[in-house]
Amino acid sequence: CQVALLVGGVSGEREVSLASGKGAQEALEQAGFPVTVLDPSNKEDLKRLIDGPFDVAFICLHGKYGEDGTLQGFLEMIGLPYIGSGVWSSALAMDKVKSKVFYSREQIPTPHSLVLNPTSTVDVEKIIEEVGFPCVVKPATEGSALGVCIVENRDDLAAAVEKVSELDRQVLIEHYVAGKELTVAVLGNDEPRALPIIEIVPVNEFYDYESKYVPGASQHLCPAPLDEKVTAEIQDLAVRAHRALGCEGVSRSDFILDEAGKAWILETNTIPGMTGTSLLPDSARAAGISFPELCTMLIGYALE
Ligand code: DAL
Ligand code: MG
Repeated sequence: CQVALLVGGVSGEREVSLASGKGAQEALEQAGFPVTVLDPSNKEDLKRLIDGPFDVAFICLHGKYGEDGTLQGFLEMIGLPYIGSGVWSSALAMDKVKSKVFYSREQIPTPHSLVLNPTSTVDVEKIIEEVGFPCVVKPATEGSALGVCIVENRDDLAAAVEKVSELDRQVLIEHYVAGKELTVAVLGNDEPRALPIIEIVPVNEFYDYESKYVPGASQHLCPAPLDEKVTAEIQDLAVRAHRALGCEGVSRSDFILDEAGKAWILETNTIPGMTGTSLLPDSARAAGISFPELCTMLIGYALE
């Protein structure tokens, strides 16, 4: 089985993708796959992808033109199977605003929020009424917490909105839920199952870009120290989120467990990070699945 490992891309998460690619390349080679590394944002590589003798594309791109359905659509057109979710589901999961609609339909709790479009004016009173402070201002379609800021009071709101609107047409303003940061990976197509929950203990105020990728800047507790019932409930929410968005192969949903014991979903990632500090390989390991085995499973789901 010849693998085209796709890395790089043009999104704000390019560097993360290159690091994910390195991690995945090592693991795929250990698992015995012949691997060709290609960057689909490079024309020559794109031609090699179309003409090459590949059986599967292992996507390690995050964000726009990698995780958001566009690359998936291209791979559909050239008839090359790929790991992870399909076109529609990838596009849906990349958009935090639209994902919330689908979570709500399935009674998966997600923090109250509102959305600003390029033509919206920032109506502070409405934001206070519907979301309240502190709130989290984030681009609707970025990853790795790029651009995300926590706003404590009305004075800082306008600047945060302006900053985020440089990254995205849609700005999501979400109620800030204080609590434990948890993430749950799910594997599978028709019968998805959750891996052990990870509790993330960041050194910064929240699990921001630095906490995610600087070694030692966050601690992963896996399995998360939660009681059995709570663990099962949150794993069930993650599986329901995977199904609600129509995910395939793998997903990783991020949650906050508030002080009253209620879990709130923030988002679902369809191409979770695979870097040395990433969560998916860690939680697989806790389930007894090595990184090479995980990559083999993802390819298996792609070819099912
Ligand atoms: N968006 C990053 C890569 C993650 O979710 O792991
Ligand atoms: Mg994300």
